[in-house]
Amino acid sequence: MSASLATVSYIGATILFILSLGGLSNQTTALRGNLYGMIGMSIAVLATVFGPKVSGFASYAWIIGAMVVGGGIGLYAARTVQMTQMPELVALMHSMVGLAAMLVGFATYIDTSIPLEGAEKAIHEMEIYIGILIGAVTFAGSVIAFGKLSGRIGGKTLLLPGRHFMNLGLLLVVIYFGREFLHADAATGMTPLIVMTIMALLFGVHMVMAIGGADMPVVVSMLNSYSGWAAAATGFMLSNDLLIVIGALVGSSGAILSYIMCNAMNRSFISVIAGGFGSTSAAPKAATGDAQPVGEVTPVNAAETAELLREAKSVVIVPGYGMAVAQAQHTVYEITKVLREKGVNVRFGIHPVAGRMPGHMNVLLAEAKVPYDIVFEMDELNDDFPTTDVAIVIGANDIVNPAAQDDPTSPIAGMPVLEVWKAKTSIVMKRSMASGYAGVDNPLFYKENNRMLFGDAKKMLDEVLTVLKAS
Ligand code: TAP
Repeated sequence: MSASLATVSYIGATILFILSLGGLSNQTTALRGNLYGMIGMSIAVLATVFGPKVSGFASYAWIIGAMVVGGGIGLYAARTVQMTQMPELVALMHSMVGLAAMLVGFATYIDTSIPLEGAEKAIHEMEIYIGILIGAVTFAGSVIAFGKLSGRIGGKTLLLPGRHFMNLGLLLVVIYFGREFLHADAATGMTPLIVMTIMALLFGVHMVMAIGGADMPVVVSMLNSYSGWAAAATGFMLSNDLLIVIGALVGSSGAILSYIMCNAMNRSFISVIAGGFGSTSAAPKAATGDAQPVGEVTPVNAAETAELLREAKSVVIVPGYGMAVAQAQHTVYEITKVLREKGVNVRFGIHPVAGRMPGHMNVLLAEAKVPYDIVFEMDELNDDFPTTDVAIVIGANDIVNPAAQDDPTSPIAGMPVLEVWKAKTSIVMKRSMASGYAGVDNPLFYKENNRMLFGDAKKMLDEVLTVLKAS
């Protein structure tokens, strides 16, 4: 493939990626957005593999071998991963982008086949240094995020004394060794590069370990953004324009998503990154990681729940992480259909950080074919709770916790929540009195107008559906 054809293909792929991002911004066009992304990526890979920079049988053998192994692992992961493990998979994939940026950085430094001099050499070395730096932070941070999301590492924050000074110290060391690296020759440059890599890995680990349970959404989207910048840095090192553009697209859209997540949680971006939110003196309950229940609750059974739903004129369903665990979305929609046939106004209220990844609930509801026009954002629905007869909470906890509004010492204080307790009756469906991801008790459970339907969400909803259909 000629260089000009490769350039044209790159421009085509870039346009498709932009169209893909545009499509993904809306549920009705998301499928098309995904398709554009897939076509764009296929064009990008083909144009790179058959482009002017790759030649010779040995190169193709390596590429095909790598694609078979990588594609095989990807295919296996995509087929076997459970919906509840999706956030962990995403974190793991971000770590791969970071690792790739690190490895490409070292390989580019070791490769001396293209001799560079003067300013060109300095710029190239800066690209390598920054690329490895971003890659190492992304890699280490994503591995820890994977550990936290999968429960292998506890959600508790690690708050080292003087952690801000430590971070500042790491930054100064990185700057100092950057200077050393730029002044070093081929024989001595590896030492500052390795020292910086270790510092960056430590920073990545420390940054995510210091972030409190409820603030993980910001970390997920922030690492998404970092992985984009790591890809862009790799593009600079490899002089690949497409990788630079795609990296910048992912990096900036991840940054915008982080901003949206911060807004949704009423957090400032800097304070989340600096760590310590969701814990310490202002957050005594989170520090224990698992709050104990304090009060009396009113349990109900499936038949009573069905009765309350049947008598209601207006119902709001609030799904959370437990709905994903129980895979209850299909039954939820069955119940919705039965109620709507009876003339009940049923709507869904989605919190921006419900579940374990951005858009988690929307994906599940779309999978169950719930019509988009009855799925509402938190802000669109919150004012309607006082006129709602039944608010039914399916496996959600932190996102409906009134302590976020009432208790300034709560680790989730200030986080906007769905005000289900303002409905005439609220029903919370979960298996026990256990706390949610943030590890805090939920005063909603003890409210007079609240009922608890204990059990696996899918099992309980099946029972509710049977009663509703029978009546
Ligand atoms: P959580 O607060 O984690 O509550 C989920 C509840 O579901 C748990 O209390 C659990 O109680 C219940 N549950 C689990 N399995 C169940 C099952 N099979 N049947 C019925 N109930 C079940 O979830 P949420 O309300 O969706 O809030 C999300 C939390 O995750 C927030 O703190 C958020 O900051 C955090 N987070 C979000 C993200 C993103 S990007 N969305 C990423 C990381 C972290 P039982 O054990 O008693 O059943």
